[in-house]
Amino acid sequence: MKVFIHDDADTAAAHTAVIAARSLQRKPAAVLGLATGETMRPVYRHLRDLFAKEDIPTADFTSFNLDEFVGVPPSHPGSFHYFMAREFLDHLGNTGTRCFLPDGMAPDVMAEAARYETSIQMHGGIDLQLLGIGRNGHIGFNEPGTAFDSRTSCIALSDQTISTLQGFTPHLDRDMLPEFAITMGIATIMDAKRCILLATGSAKASAIRAMLEDAVSNACPASVLRNHPDVTIILDRLAAEGLTEAGIAAFQPVFNPQVRMFHTPSDNEK
Ligand code: GLP
Repeated sequence: MKVFIHDDADTAAAHTAVIAARSLQRKPAAVLGLATGETMRPVYRHLRDLFAKEDIPTADFTSFNLDEFVGVPPSHPGSFHYFMAREFLDHLGNTGTRCFLPDGMAPDVMAEAARYETSIQMHGGIDLQLLGIGRNGHIGFNEPGTAFDSRTSCIALSDQTISTLQGFTPHLDRDMLPEFAITMGIATIMDAKRCILLATGSAKASAIRAMLEDAVSNACPASVLRNHPDVTIILDRLAAEGLTEAGIAAFQPVFNPQVRMFHTPSDNEK
């Protein structure tokens, strides 16, 4: 596990975007796992900039998003379909036809979840999975208590997640607040060849501490990533502020890594 700590959220997001862009340079037909959330918004902005300015192949990749709310239509500004269209997919021309999200409006959401899981596998699995983290340590919408062998399914959102949505997702008002979501499972995420988790801001500090310093357990679903063979954690100082000296000694984070797009990255930067 590699841990990077940047001074600010924007640089942490730029680092995440550069890793995704480099992975497309190495493998233009890569399968990307994509995430939504406020943390990811600047990542897509940086990716759009990189796509506009640099020679990055964007015509051949496939993507699968982590999750979508049940019962929130794609045209609704609170849906993850809408977020992805606005932030990323609409900027890619016809690439959008290979960029998938679970269908939260499907009449049979369990069947839709199973179809999505199969579709990921039929595309050869995910090469690079981007992840945020919930305040309670969830990844995707795998809430605390989710079994580590879970696959894509329809899950009930926790009260904490629903109240976070209420406070921070302006488009999901009281009438539209979802109670369920379709999410990739923890085992689905762990099958990705590489995972990048980005967390910024002090609201994530306790989840990051639990993820890195508590026992690996489904009390903090993100802690499972410590069992993944290729995971990179990218933080800003605020998200890292809960780490103890012992945690820092154990994970030896790289502070203020230099992130540039075009050069052969050094080992401690990849
Ligand atoms: C939702 C998503 C997660 C995301 C989390 C954090 O719960 N399902 O994938 O990591 O939000 O969102 P934010 O970045 O807005 O804090």
